[in-house]
Amino acid sequence: MNILILGSGGREHALAWAIRQNPKCDRLFVAPGNAGMEPLARLADLDILSGPAVIGFCEENAIDLVVIGPEAPLAAGVADELRAAGILAFGPSRAAAMLEASKSFTKEVCDACGAPTAAWARFDAAEPARAYIRAQGAPIVVKADGLAAGKGVTVAMTEAEAIAAVDDAFGGAFGEAGAEVVIEEFMAGEEASFFVLCDGKDCLPIGTAQDHKRAFDGDTGPNTGGMGAYSPAPVLTQAIQDQVMEQIVRPTVAEMARRGTPFQGVLYAGLMIEHGRARLVEYNVRFGDPECQVLMMRLGAQALDLILACAEGRLGDMAVSWAQDHALTVVLAAKGYPGAYEKGSAIRGLDALPEDSFRMVFHAGTARRDGQIVATGGRVLAATGRGATLAEAHARAYALVDAIDWPEGFCRRDIGWRAL
Ligand SMILES: Nc1ncnc2c1ncn2[C@@H]1O[C@H](COP(=O)(O)OP(=O)(O)O)[C@@H](O)[C@H]1O
Ligand SMILES: [Mg+2]
Repeated sequence: MNILILGSGGREHALAWAIRQNPKCDRLFVAPGNAGMEPLARLADLDILSGPAVIGFCEENAIDLVVIGPEAPLAAGVADELRAAGILAFGPSRAAAMLEASKSFTKEVCDACGAPTAAWARFDAAEPARAYIRAQGAPIVVKADGLAAGKGVTVAMTEAEAIAAVDDAFGGAFGEAGAEVVIEEFMAGEEASFFVLCDGKDCLPIGTAQDHKRAFDGDTGPNTGGMGAYSPAPVLTQAIQDQVMEQIVRPTVAEMARRGTPFQGVLYAGLMIEHGRARLVEYNVRFGDPECQVLMMRLGAQALDLILACAEGRLGDMAVSWAQDHALTVVLAAKGYPGAYEKGSAIRGLDALPEDSFRMVFHAGTARRDGQIVATGGRVLAATGRGATLAEAHARAYALVDAIDWPEGFCRRDIGWRAL
């Protein structure tokens, strides 16, 4: 079959890498893609937020399945338009993508289905929000309701910080996304991510992960899109996974179906685990980046069978074939990221790397210029290792890092410290 992946990050490179290995995949396209994917797929320059543009490409190239990587095309309704045009798509409808696009929507769904999460309230004006913060006290969490590119949340340790966050949001710091604000009870504990394929009716867990959001070693420095991740997450024991399926994921999927907006795609549950019990922090409606890199490294070629079954509503017949393995990925970012950084610096040493099913460098922000790979983004590469133990995966990932010659880049040296 012919497959089109939408997106251009390390997540999409990892999806392309896994899908390409499956003999069901005849021709593979990625739009817009990046330089790292060139050996695996044809890159297509098209506006992935435009349903008609994507549908036109699918018709010209006899595409059988579209795998949607990022949230923006989902929130724009590209999956709906594809399905309306009779094209198989992996990813939720615009209505079901609300589970990521609106924090208060998710909170309402949790309340309706009894899923454990932090106590919350929603505000559309600053004064009642400030009064609520004074009444509740700190620590407390302030969130812009809409999509804010990971910058809309303040975990406030003091009331003053929380009130400043409210004033920022209503002052327009997050644009439309901050026109409404959700204020939540602070949850203590350890965070982890749980990934579940859902076909609207049936659900199939496909792995757990933990990531490192802070820029520097020791989980210090500014928040980023993610500087590394590993899978599985030891804190998500089988018992806790069972609790999450029973109390959070299945009730959510049933509630979405009951509302006439069934969820199809990957449901990424951000969880807080304390005293052996998980509560929901948030949902995302697509794979995480860099979590996708470690999940794909572990799933390999079967990822396509699972994604296809999900898109076709056949998940009830599927099972994951697990290897007893671990994967770890280290993100290499441009110096200065997540602040200002230079673009265009050359990255050397990539061609000589030994890449196989235990070691892969996924590209996130690269392009090929005059035969050379250059950095074009903040997060640029994800050096990923797999092994029988997390220590082995860690050693393989850092061996890749050390073989890459890119003086303008940096990475954390302590990815996985909590689990190692
Ligand atoms: N209620 C909460 N209690 C404690 N920490 C929280 C809470 N909600 C969010 N956080 C922290 O803030 C981070 C970002 O919040 P999240 O809801 O995941 O928003 P987003 O990923 O859209 O920025 C979480 O990963 C978590 O570390
Ligand atoms: Mg989050």
